[in-house]
Amino acid sequence: MSKAVRLDRLLANMGYGSRREIEQMARAGWIVLDGQRVEKTDQRIAVDPSLSARMTVRGDPLDPPPGLTLMLHKPLGVTCSHKETGELVYGLLPARWRMREPALSTIGRLDKETSGLLLLTDDGALLHRVISPRSHVPKRYLATLDRPLTGDETAVFAAGTLLLEGEDKPLAPAILEVLGEREAALTVTEGRYHQVRRMFAAVGNHVTALHRERIGALALPDDLAPGAWRVMDTNAIALVFAG
Ligand code: URA
Repeated sequence: MSKAVRLDRLLANMGYGSRREIEQMARAGWIVLDGQRVEKTDQRIAVDPSLSARMTVRGDPLDPPPGLTLMLHKPLGVTCSHKETGELVYGLLPARWRMREPALSTIGRLDKETSGLLLLTDDGALLHRVISPRSHVPKRYLATLDRPLTGDETAVFAAGTLLLEGEDKPLAPAILEVLGEREAALTVTEGRYHQVRRMFAAVGNHVTALHRERIGALALPDDLAPGAWRVMDTNAIALVFAG
């Protein structure tokens, strides 16, 4: 069900300007809805994804309205944080999107030196549903290792008894597929801090490169280059829970 909100509030919350500025933009004829110049910015409109196809602002399609979920190919060297300095994942998105309310947040995090599939959303309920340990959403990582695999790792990770350093709750079972002497795919259903790196450290190895290729049944598309992102529709979101 779509929610009706005041047009000036909607555009202000999407970073287009203050409510006063939105009114001035409407007066200048810059806001067009269903082919008509918007005169009354206090009118209520239903918010749903179709709005981007129905409204233009200064001749450009409206940004995706709230209820926005994205997939991003996180490149190496960028951080999943609103606070830290240096290059942040939010800097890969259009500048106006940083002023959105509700804000976009990453669904979980990838380390600065991990690449791959990262989801972002402004939908708090969806975020919690994905990261909740109760959801058991599988995440598949490709790891390159410093030392050859010994052959014992698959059983150790699958046992559901492995303790990470400094923790007292064993990890849930995880699936390891050996892809090469120093390469493996690891599928985990939890999201503990630096989990994959710490799991390999627990078996005496060291991860030299880490890439997330899948969340649930949603794979990072081959044609999504590092740093590029894509808006997700409900079918793509459903794949996350279809793992
Ligand atoms: N595990 C890690 O160690 N790092 C990540 O970024 C994700 C999972």
